Amino acid sequence: MSQQGFGLIGTGFMGRAHAIALGSVARVFDGITAPRCVTVADDDARKAQKAAHELGFERSTGHWHELIADSAIQVVDICTPNYLHAEMALAAIRAGKHVYCEKPLALDVDEADKLARAAAQAGVVHAVGLNYTTNPMISVARDMIAAGEIGEPTAFSGRYLEDYMASADVPFSWRCERRLAGSGALADLGSHLINMLHYLLGRPKSLVADLRTLVPVRKDPATGQHRKVENEDIASALIELESGIPATFEISRIATGYKCGLTFEIFGTRGAIAFDQERMNELRVYASGDASGRRGYRTILAGPEHGDYGRFCPAPGHGLGINDLKVIEIYRLLSAIERGTPFWPDFSEGLAVQRVMSAMEASAASGERVTLDWQRPGSAR
Ligand SMILES: NC(=O)c1ccc[n+]([C@@H]2O[C@H](COP(=O)([O-])OP(=O)(O)OC[C@H]3O[C@@H](n4cnc5c(N)ncnc54)[C@H](O)[C@@H]3O)[C@@H](O)[C@H]2O)c1
Repeated sequence: MSQQGFGLIGTGFMGRAHAIALGSVARVFDGITAPRCVTVADDDARKAQKAAHELGFERSTGHWHELIADSAIQVVDICTPNYLHAEMALAAIRAGKHVYCEKPLALDVDEADKLARAAAQAGVVHAVGLNYTTNPMISVARDMIAAGEIGEPTAFSGRYLEDYMASADVPFSWRCERRLAGSGALADLGSHLINMLHYLLGRPKSLVADLRTLVPVRKDPATGQHRKVENEDIASALIELESGIPATFEISRIATGYKCGLTFEIFGTRGAIAFDQERMNELRVYASGDASGRRGYRTILAGPEHGDYGRFCPAPGHGLGINDLKVIEIYRLLSAIERGTPFWPDFSEGLAVQRVMSAMEASAASGERVTLDWQRPGSAR
Protein backbone atom coordinates (compact mmCIF):
# COMPACT_ATOMS: atom_id res chain seq x y z
CA MET A 1 0.00 0.00 0.00
CA SER A 2 1.33 3.43 -0.90
CA GLN A 3 1.50 6.12 1.74
CA GLN A 4 -0.74 9.15 1.14
CA GLY A 5 0.65 12.60 1.97
CA PHE A 6 -2.01 14.91 3.43
CA GLY A 7 -2.16 18.68 3.24
CA LEU A 8 -4.65 20.10 5.76
CA ILE A 9 -6.11 23.58 5.20
CA GLY A 10 -7.75 25.22 8.23
CA THR A 11 -6.95 24.57 11.88
CA GLY A 12 -10.23 25.36 13.64
CA PHE A 13 -12.84 22.93 14.99
CA MET A 14 -12.78 20.60 11.99
CA GLY A 15 -9.07 20.99 11.17
CA ARG A 16 -8.23 19.62 14.61
CA ALA A 17 -10.80 16.80 14.30
CA HIS A 18 -9.29 15.74 10.95
CA ALA A 19 -5.74 15.88 12.37
CA ILE A 20 -6.70 13.70 15.36
CA ALA A 21 -8.26 11.15 13.00
CA LEU A 22 -5.27 11.18 10.62
CA GLY A 23 -3.05 10.38 13.58
CA SER A 24 -5.07 7.39 14.74
CA VAL A 25 -6.58 5.81 11.61
CA ALA A 26 -3.78 3.27 11.05
CA ARG A 27 -3.76 2.32 14.73
CA VAL A 28 -7.52 1.63 14.69
CA PHE A 29 -7.78 -0.12 11.31
CA ASP A 30 -5.61 -3.01 10.06
CA GLY A 31 -4.08 -3.15 6.61
CA ILE A 32 -3.98 0.57 6.01
CA THR A 33 -0.79 2.59 5.62
CA ALA A 34 -0.58 5.45 8.10
CA PRO A 35 -1.05 8.71 6.20
CA ARG A 36 1.84 11.16 6.15
CA CYS A 37 0.85 14.50 7.71
CA VAL A 38 2.91 16.74 5.42
CA THR A 39 1.72 20.36 5.59
CA VAL A 40 -0.87 22.36 7.46
CA ALA A 41 -2.03 25.69 6.04
CA ASP A 42 -3.90 28.55 7.64
CA ASP A 43 -4.31 32.14 6.49
CA ASP A 44 -2.14 33.24 9.41
CA ALA A 45 1.35 31.69 9.02
CA ARG A 46 2.06 31.80 12.77
CA LYS A 47 -1.19 30.03 13.53
CA ALA A 48 -0.31 27.41 10.91
CA GLN A 49 3.15 26.91 12.45
CA LYS A 50 1.70 26.44 15.94
CA ALA A 51 -0.90 24.00 14.58
CA ALA A 52 1.75 21.99 12.70
CA HIS A 53 3.67 21.57 15.95
CA GLU A 54 0.57 20.63 17.99
CA LEU A 55 -1.06 18.39 15.39
CA GLY A 56 2.02 16.52 14.19
CA PHE A 57 2.53 17.94 10.67
CA GLU A 58 6.02 18.21 9.14
CA ARG A 59 5.66 21.77 7.90
CA SER A 60 3.31 24.73 7.74
CA THR A 61 2.42 27.58 5.43
CA GLY A 62 0.34 30.74 5.41
CA HIS A 63 -0.39 30.22 1.69
CA TRP A 64 -2.63 27.28 0.82
CA HIS A 65 -1.59 27.37 -2.87
CA GLU A 66 1.89 26.22 -1.80
CA LEU A 67 0.36 23.14 -0.20
CA ILE A 68 -1.51 22.23 -3.38
CA ALA A 69 1.62 22.61 -5.51
CA ASP A 70 3.66 20.33 -3.22
CA SER A 71 4.42 16.97 -4.90
CA ALA A 72 4.66 15.28 -1.47
CA ILE A 73 0.91 15.86 -1.02
CA GLN A 74 -1.58 13.50 -2.67
CA VAL A 75 -4.70 14.41 -0.61
CA VAL A 76 -5.91 17.98 -0.03
CA ASP A 77 -8.02 18.17 3.14
CA ILE A 78 -10.23 21.30 3.25
CA CYS A 79 -11.47 22.50 6.67
CA THR A 80 -12.00 26.19 5.94
CA PRO A 81 -15.13 28.38 5.90
CA ASN A 82 -17.62 27.39 3.19
CA TYR A 83 -16.78 30.14 0.64
CA LEU A 84 -13.26 28.74 0.22
CA HIS A 85 -14.28 25.14 -0.51
CA ALA A 86 -14.89 25.53 -4.25
CA GLU A 87 -11.73 27.52 -5.05
CA MET A 88 -9.51 25.21 -2.99
CA ALA A 89 -11.12 21.96 -4.20
CA LEU A 90 -10.96 23.02 -7.87
CA ALA A 91 -7.28 23.97 -7.52
CA ALA A 92 -6.57 20.59 -5.90
CA ILE A 93 -8.47 18.66 -8.60
CA ARG A 94 -6.62 20.56 -11.34
CA ALA A 95 -3.36 19.56 -9.67
CA GLY A 96 -4.49 15.90 -9.80
CA LYS A 97 -4.95 15.55 -6.02
CA HIS A 98 -7.62 13.60 -4.15
CA VAL A 99 -9.94 15.97 -2.25
CA TYR A 100 -11.49 15.61 1.19
CA CYS A 101 -13.74 18.61 1.78
CA GLU A 102 -15.85 19.57 4.77
CA LYS A 103 -19.57 20.12 4.32
CA PRO A 104 -21.40 21.90 2.82
CA LEU A 105 -19.53 21.11 -0.41
CA ALA A 106 -20.09 24.63 -1.79
CA LEU A 107 -22.05 27.87 -1.48
CA ASP A 108 -24.66 27.00 -4.11
CA VAL A 109 -25.72 24.43 -6.71
CA ASP A 110 -23.64 25.96 -9.53
CA GLU A 111 -20.43 25.68 -7.52
CA ALA A 112 -21.26 22.16 -6.29
CA ASP A 113 -22.14 21.04 -9.83
CA LYS A 114 -18.82 22.37 -11.15
CA LEU A 115 -16.94 20.55 -8.40
CA ALA A 116 -18.77 17.24 -8.88
CA ARG A 117 -18.11 17.33 -12.65
CA ALA A 118 -14.46 18.33 -12.29
CA ALA A 119 -13.75 15.62 -9.69
CA ALA A 120 -15.45 12.91 -11.77
CA GLN A 121 -13.60 13.97 -14.93
CA ALA A 122 -10.23 14.07 -13.18
CA GLY A 123 -10.72 10.56 -11.78
CA VAL A 124 -9.57 11.59 -8.31
CA VAL A 125 -11.21 10.33 -5.10
CA HIS A 126 -13.57 12.97 -3.69
CA ALA A 127 -15.13 12.97 -0.23
CA VAL A 128 -17.42 15.28 1.74
CA GLY A 129 -17.23 15.32 5.55
CA LEU A 130 -20.87 14.41 6.16
CA ASN A 131 -19.74 12.23 9.05
CA TYR A 132 -22.95 11.34 10.88
CA THR A 133 -23.92 8.62 8.37
CA THR A 134 -20.66 6.76 9.19
CA ASN A 135 -22.01 5.90 12.67
CA PRO A 136 -22.33 2.08 12.85
CA MET A 137 -25.76 2.49 14.51
CA ILE A 138 -27.00 4.41 11.48
CA SER A 139 -25.97 1.46 9.28
CA VAL A 140 -27.96 -0.80 11.64
CA ALA A 141 -31.00 1.44 11.10
CA ARG A 142 -30.53 1.31 7.34
CA ASP A 143 -30.11 -2.49 7.37
CA MET A 144 -33.26 -2.88 9.50
CA ILE A 145 -35.27 -0.75 7.08
CA ALA A 146 -33.90 -2.64 4.05
CA ALA A 147 -34.70 -6.00 5.68
CA GLY A 148 -38.31 -4.91 6.30
CA GLU A 149 -37.95 -5.13 10.09
CA ILE A 150 -40.24 -2.13 10.59
CA GLY A 151 -42.48 -3.13 7.66
CA GLU A 152 -43.04 -0.52 4.97
CA PRO A 153 -41.74 2.91 6.05
CA THR A 154 -44.62 5.39 6.33
CA ALA A 155 -42.91 8.61 7.49
CA PHE A 156 -39.61 10.28 8.45
CA SER A 157 -39.54 12.95 11.12
CA GLY A 158 -36.09 14.59 11.26
CA ARG A 159 -34.65 17.42 13.32
CA TYR A 160 -31.22 18.95 13.65
CA LEU A 161 -31.29 21.39 16.55
CA GLU A 162 -28.37 23.20 18.18
CA ASP A 163 -28.16 26.35 20.30
CA TYR A 164 -24.71 27.71 19.40
CA MET A 165 -26.29 30.97 18.19
CA ALA A 166 -29.31 31.07 20.54
CA SER A 167 -27.95 34.03 22.48
CA ALA A 168 -28.21 37.38 20.71
CA ASP A 169 -24.81 38.10 22.31
CA VAL A 170 -23.08 35.49 20.13
CA PRO A 171 -21.03 37.74 17.81
CA PHE A 172 -21.34 38.06 14.05
CA SER A 173 -19.05 35.52 12.31
CA TRP A 174 -18.46 34.11 8.83
CA ARG A 175 -21.41 31.79 9.52
CA CYS A 176 -23.81 34.82 9.38
CA GLU A 177 -22.57 36.21 6.05
CA ARG A 178 -24.08 34.86 2.85
CA ARG A 179 -20.94 35.48 0.76
CA LEU A 180 -18.86 33.39 3.19
CA ALA A 181 -21.31 30.74 4.43
CA GLY A 182 -24.11 30.50 1.86
CA SER A 183 -27.20 29.59 3.86
CA GLY A 184 -27.21 29.53 7.66
CA ALA A 185 -28.62 26.70 9.80
CA LEU A 186 -29.50 24.93 6.56
CA ALA A 187 -25.86 24.70 5.38
CA ASP A 188 -24.39 24.12 8.81
CA LEU A 189 -26.87 21.57 10.19
CA GLY A 190 -29.42 20.84 7.47
CA SER A 191 -26.75 19.44 5.14
CA HIS A 192 -26.21 16.58 7.62
CA LEU A 193 -29.94 15.92 8.02
CA ILE A 194 -30.48 15.83 4.24
CA ASN A 195 -27.56 13.39 3.84
CA MET A 196 -29.10 11.24 6.62
CA LEU A 197 -32.47 11.17 4.83
CA HIS A 198 -30.78 10.24 1.54
CA TYR A 199 -28.86 7.41 3.26
CA LEU A 200 -31.86 5.93 5.04
CA LEU A 201 -34.86 6.48 2.76
CA GLY A 202 -33.82 8.24 -0.45
CA ARG A 203 -34.22 11.65 -2.04
CA PRO A 204 -37.01 14.25 -1.97
CA LYS A 205 -39.33 14.55 -4.97
CA SER A 206 -40.85 17.84 -3.84
CA LEU A 207 -40.97 20.08 -0.79
CA VAL A 208 -42.42 23.17 0.83
CA ALA A 209 -40.06 25.07 3.12
CA ASP A 210 -39.91 28.00 5.49
CA LEU A 211 -36.77 29.91 6.59
CA ARG A 212 -36.62 32.39 9.48
CA THR A 213 -34.00 34.71 10.94
CA LEU A 214 -34.94 35.36 14.57
CA VAL A 215 -31.79 37.26 15.59
CA PRO A 216 -31.63 39.91 12.84
CA VAL A 217 -28.39 41.66 13.90
CA ARG A 218 -25.23 40.61 15.74
CA LYS A 219 -22.21 42.62 16.92
CA ASP A 220 -19.24 42.35 14.58
CA PRO A 221 -16.11 41.93 16.76
CA ALA A 222 -13.99 43.51 14.00
CA THR A 223 -15.83 46.87 14.09
CA GLY A 224 -17.82 46.80 17.33
CA GLN A 225 -20.90 47.67 15.22
CA HIS A 226 -24.05 45.58 14.80
CA ARG A 227 -24.39 43.89 11.41
CA LYS A 228 -27.37 42.36 9.65
CA VAL A 229 -27.44 38.55 9.83
CA GLU A 230 -27.76 37.49 6.19
CA ASN A 231 -29.00 33.92 6.51
CA GLU A 232 -31.56 31.88 8.42
CA ASP A 233 -31.54 30.71 12.04
CA ILE A 234 -34.38 28.23 11.47
CA ALA A 235 -35.36 26.11 8.45
CA SER A 236 -38.27 23.71 8.22
CA ALA A 237 -39.79 21.64 5.43
CA LEU A 238 -42.63 19.34 4.48
CA ILE A 239 -41.22 16.83 2.01
CA GLU A 240 -42.48 14.10 -0.28
CA LEU A 241 -39.78 11.53 -1.05
CA GLU A 242 -39.35 9.91 -4.46
CA SER A 243 -40.84 6.78 -2.88
CA GLY A 244 -43.95 8.78 -1.94
CA ILE A 245 -43.16 8.68 1.80
CA PRO A 246 -43.70 12.01 3.64
CA ALA A 247 -40.86 13.55 5.64
CA THR A 248 -40.47 16.62 7.83
CA PHE A 249 -37.38 18.68 8.70
CA GLU A 250 -36.90 21.04 11.61
CA ILE A 251 -33.45 22.69 11.65
CA SER A 252 -32.27 25.40 14.03
CA ARG A 253 -29.06 27.00 15.31
CA ILE A 254 -31.02 28.84 18.05
CA ALA A 255 -32.78 25.83 19.64
CA THR A 256 -32.04 26.56 23.30
CA GLY A 257 -30.87 23.48 25.17
CA TYR A 258 -29.76 21.39 22.19
CA LYS A 259 -26.04 20.83 21.57
CA CYS A 260 -26.00 18.22 18.80
CA GLY A 261 -29.69 17.38 18.41
CA LEU A 262 -29.63 15.48 15.14
CA THR A 263 -32.62 13.24 15.76
CA PHE A 264 -34.98 11.25 13.60
CA GLU A 265 -37.85 8.82 13.87
CA ILE A 266 -38.84 6.51 11.07
CA PHE A 267 -42.30 5.04 11.35
CA GLY A 268 -43.22 1.81 9.58
CA THR A 269 -46.23 -0.46 9.22
CA ARG A 270 -44.75 -2.96 11.69
CA GLY A 271 -42.43 -0.89 13.85
CA ALA A 272 -40.38 2.25 14.25
CA ILE A 273 -36.77 3.40 14.70
CA ALA A 274 -35.58 6.44 16.66
CA PHE A 275 -32.09 7.99 16.91
CA ASP A 276 -30.55 10.93 18.74
CA GLN A 277 -26.96 12.04 17.94
CA GLU A 278 -26.57 13.28 21.55
CA ARG A 279 -26.95 9.58 22.46
CA MET A 280 -25.12 8.32 19.38
CA ASN A 281 -24.43 4.85 20.79
CA GLU A 282 -28.10 4.00 21.05
CA LEU A 283 -30.73 3.00 18.51
CA ARG A 284 -34.29 2.83 19.79
CA VAL A 285 -36.53 0.30 18.11
CA TYR A 286 -40.25 -0.42 18.43
CA ALA A 287 -41.84 -3.64 17.18
CA SER A 288 -45.61 -3.64 16.71
CA GLY A 289 -45.53 -7.46 16.84
CA ASP A 290 -44.51 -7.55 20.52
CA ALA A 291 -47.13 -9.08 22.81
CA SER A 292 -50.00 -6.91 23.98
CA GLY A 293 -49.07 -5.26 27.25
CA ARG A 294 -45.35 -5.65 26.45
CA ARG A 295 -45.03 -3.08 23.64
CA GLY A 296 -42.62 -0.19 23.89
CA TYR A 297 -39.35 1.14 22.52
CA ARG A 298 -36.26 -0.91 23.41
CA THR A 299 -32.71 0.40 23.18
CA ILE A 300 -29.95 -1.34 21.20
CA LEU A 301 -26.59 -0.29 22.64
CA ALA A 302 -23.65 0.00 20.23
CA GLY A 303 -21.19 -2.89 20.46
CA PRO A 304 -18.50 -4.78 18.53
CA GLU A 305 -21.10 -6.62 16.45
CA HIS A 306 -22.04 -3.27 14.86
CA GLY A 307 -19.88 -2.32 11.87
CA ASP A 308 -16.56 -0.67 12.75
CA TYR A 309 -17.32 -0.32 16.49
CA GLY A 310 -15.13 -3.34 17.35
CA ARG A 311 -12.11 -1.62 15.77
CA PHE A 312 -12.22 0.90 18.59
CA CYS A 313 -13.43 -1.14 21.53
CA PRO A 314 -14.06 -4.84 22.29
CA ALA A 315 -16.73 -4.14 24.91
CA PRO A 316 -20.37 -3.25 24.11
CA GLY A 317 -21.98 -0.15 25.59
CA HIS A 318 -18.71 1.72 26.14
CA GLY A 319 -19.38 3.99 23.22
CA LEU A 320 -17.86 5.79 20.24
CA GLY A 321 -17.58 9.57 19.91
CA ILE A 322 -17.67 12.15 17.12
CA ASN A 323 -13.89 11.94 16.55
CA ASP A 324 -14.25 8.18 15.98
CA LEU A 325 -16.68 8.94 13.14
CA LYS A 326 -13.92 11.05 11.55
CA VAL A 327 -11.50 8.09 11.91
CA ILE A 328 -14.00 5.85 10.08
CA GLU A 329 -14.47 8.55 7.42
CA ILE A 330 -10.71 8.83 6.83
CA TYR A 331 -10.32 5.04 6.79
CA ARG A 332 -12.94 4.85 4.02
CA LEU A 333 -11.21 7.65 2.14
CA LEU A 334 -7.83 5.89 2.34
CA SER A 335 -9.45 2.58 1.33
CA ALA A 336 -10.99 4.29 -1.69
CA ILE A 337 -7.59 5.66 -2.70
CA GLU A 338 -5.52 2.55 -1.95
CA ARG A 339 -7.98 -0.22 -2.87
CA GLY A 340 -10.37 1.48 -5.24
CA THR A 341 -13.39 0.84 -2.97
CA PRO A 342 -16.18 3.40 -3.47
CA PHE A 343 -16.40 6.40 -1.13
CA TRP A 344 -19.74 7.89 -0.12
CA PRO A 345 -20.74 10.66 0.53
CA ASP A 346 -18.75 11.92 -2.44
CA PHE A 347 -19.04 15.20 -4.38
CA SER A 348 -22.12 13.96 -6.27
CA GLU A 349 -23.84 13.47 -2.90
CA GLY A 350 -22.51 16.90 -1.85
CA LEU A 351 -24.24 18.26 -4.96
CA ALA A 352 -27.46 16.35 -4.20
CA VAL A 353 -27.50 17.81 -0.67
CA GLN A 354 -26.88 21.29 -2.12
CA ARG A 355 -29.82 20.85 -4.50
CA VAL A 356 -32.19 20.03 -1.65
CA MET A 357 -30.95 23.06 0.32
CA SER A 358 -31.43 25.22 -2.76
CA ALA A 359 -34.95 23.85 -3.30
CA MET A 360 -35.78 24.73 0.32
CA GLU A 361 -34.51 28.28 -0.22
CA ALA A 362 -36.50 28.61 -3.46
CA SER A 363 -39.67 27.35 -1.80
CA ALA A 364 -39.25 29.66 1.18
CA ALA A 365 -38.75 32.63 -1.17
CA SER A 366 -41.73 31.85 -3.40
CA GLY A 367 -44.08 30.30 -0.86
CA GLU A 368 -44.66 27.49 -3.39
CA ARG A 369 -43.98 23.74 -3.44
CA VAL A 370 -40.77 23.05 -5.40
CA THR A 371 -40.20 19.86 -7.41
CA LEU A 372 -36.73 18.33 -7.76
CA ASP A 373 -36.03 16.66 -11.09
CA TRP A 374 -33.17 14.26 -10.35
CA GLN A 375 -32.98 13.18 -14.01
CA ARG A 376 -32.03 16.71 -15.05
CA PRO A 377 -28.69 17.81 -13.53
CA GLY A 378 -28.87 21.20 -11.83
CA SER A 379 -32.69 21.48 -11.81
CA ALA A 380 -34.48 22.99 -8.81
CA ARG A 381 -31.63 25.34 -8.11
N1 LIG B 1 -18.60 17.68 9.69
C1 LIG B 1 -18.97 18.38 10.73
O1 LIG B 1 -19.66 17.86 11.61
C2 LIG B 1 -18.57 19.83 10.83
C3 LIG B 1 -18.58 20.49 12.08
C4 LIG B 1 -18.15 21.82 12.12
C5 LIG B 1 -17.76 22.48 10.97
N2 LIG B 1 -17.80 21.81 9.77
C6 LIG B 1 -17.39 22.50 8.53
O2 LIG B 1 -15.97 22.65 8.55
C7 LIG B 1 -15.60 23.89 7.92
C8 LIG B 1 -14.77 24.71 8.91
O3 LIG B 1 -15.58 24.94 10.05
P1 LIG B 1 -14.89 25.13 11.49
O4 LIG B 1 -16.00 25.01 12.48
O5 LIG B 1 -13.71 24.25 11.63
O6 LIG B 1 -14.49 26.65 11.35
P2 LIG B 1 -13.40 27.45 12.19
O7 LIG B 1 -13.76 28.87 12.05
O8 LIG B 1 -13.26 26.84 13.55
O9 LIG B 1 -12.04 27.14 11.39
C9 LIG B 1 -11.81 27.63 10.09
C10 LIG B 1 -10.30 27.63 9.86
O10 LIG B 1 -10.04 28.05 8.51
C11 LIG B 1 -8.96 28.99 8.55
N3 LIG B 1 -8.99 29.84 7.36
C12 LIG B 1 -9.83 30.85 7.07
N4 LIG B 1 -9.50 31.41 5.89
C13 LIG B 1 -8.42 30.70 5.41
C14 LIG B 1 -7.62 30.81 4.24
N5 LIG B 1 -7.86 31.73 3.29
N6 LIG B 1 -6.58 29.94 4.09
C15 LIG B 1 -6.32 29.02 5.03
N7 LIG B 1 -7.05 28.87 6.16
C16 LIG B 1 -8.10 29.72 6.36
C17 LIG B 1 -9.20 29.75 9.85
O11 LIG B 1 -8.06 30.48 10.26
C18 LIG B 1 -9.53 28.60 10.78
O12 LIG B 1 -8.37 27.95 11.23
C19 LIG B 1 -16.90 24.58 7.51
O13 LIG B 1 -17.14 24.34 6.16
C20 LIG B 1 -17.96 23.89 8.38
O14 LIG B 1 -19.24 23.85 7.76
C21 LIG B 1 -18.17 20.51 9.69
